Amino acid sequence: MVKVVVCGAAGGIGQPLSLLLKQSDLITDLALYDVVNAPGVAADLSHINTKSKVTGHGKDDMDAALKDAHTVVIPAGVPRKPGMTRDDLFKINAGIIATLAEGVAKNCPGAFVLVISNPVNSTVPIVAEVLKKHGVFNPKKVFGISTLDVVRSSRFVSEVNPSVDPKTTRVTVVGGHSGVTIVPILSKIPDFVEGLSKEQLDALTHRIQYGGDEVVKAKDGAGSATLSMAYAGARFALTLLEATVAEKTGLIESSYVNLDADVESTASFKAKHGLDYFALDVEFGKEGVKHILPLPQVSAYEQTLLDAAYPELKANITKGASFVTSA
Ligand code: NAD
Ligand code: LMR
Repeated sequence: MVKVVVCGAAGGIGQPLSLLLKQSDLITDLALYDVVNAPGVAADLSHINTKSKVTGHGKDDMDAALKDAHTVVIPAGVPRKPGMTRDDLFKINAGIIATLAEGVAKNCPGAFVLVISNPVNSTVPIVAEVLKKHGVFNPKKVFGISTLDVVRSSRFVSEVNPSVDPKTTRVTVVGGHSGVTIVPILSKIPDFVEGLSKEQLDALTHRIQYGGDEVVKAKDGAGSATLSMAYAGARFALTLLEATVAEKTGLIESSYVNLDADVESTASFKAKHGLDYFALDVEFGKEGVKHILPLPQVSAYEQTLLDAAYPELKANITKGASFVTSA
């Protein structure tokens, strides 16, 4: 049995994400959990002629939804409105995430947990601390989903240079998932940065760091990115399933992870910057994180971006972790 649970499945991200996951033959059971409308969304998806069995679980049915899950994807919680930062969502979303993490600890302690809900920089530490409290935290299995930053970067780079194919050009994005903590390493794209003026580089970097705001503004109070996020979330989840279920090797995605997932690779970085979490390229294996790729060589421009990211990231991590440890 390969059971995948979507928590927040009736929401703006949850519905298209569940639709994309329904296409996969690697999933045998797709459980949709939400405090509203989950049975309806599940009934709808269950008519699609692919292998997985779809079940819907309402407010009082979280335990059954999570029972024996292989993978739990979490887009539950409130999205931003114009003028808000992701950190403004902490007040509401922290409690939602902690409750879901309690459910994971109780019903599927060995599951892979993919956290989409914002602020990701803080919600991932919340999940980790709840799992630690229950003695079931495995840093190789908890992922903050920063894939949308990578997806956006490929697309935005191709808009600056039309000879770049956005589908095949992967941009390494490191740090976290909000504003200045999103650090694109554009210097790794062969022969790209050299052709840009300083103004173009500033504008592209800013667009990648604040791509989420572009959507929040355009939706004008009706939420944030949902379709592109569903695409990014499905890409991450399905790649992880390819590695953990189909045992394919050499698969890499960027993710915001606890650096203890690969102590050998990250110990000196962690000691130098005093950070427990950071988004880096991750190679997947059967157990989740197989290897965290080290921070690549960066340009002086990117070093300045990193220097701005570290303190904000540290504050976000402390806020998330202490929500659980000092409760
Ligand atoms: P939405 O409001 O459309 O959907 C959220 C869903 O969560 C709703 O259906 C709601 O009923 C459900 N929910 C609320 N509390 C719940 C609980 N306790 N248990 C289960 N379900 C619950 O919002 P959305 O647009 O889908 O965004 C969801 C979250 O994802 C937001 O926090 C948003 O900021 C975040 N997000 C993250 C990224 C990223 O790159 N990581 C991208 C886009 C959005
Ligand atoms: C995004 O990057 O689109 C998401 O984190 C949603 C947001 O609030 O911007």
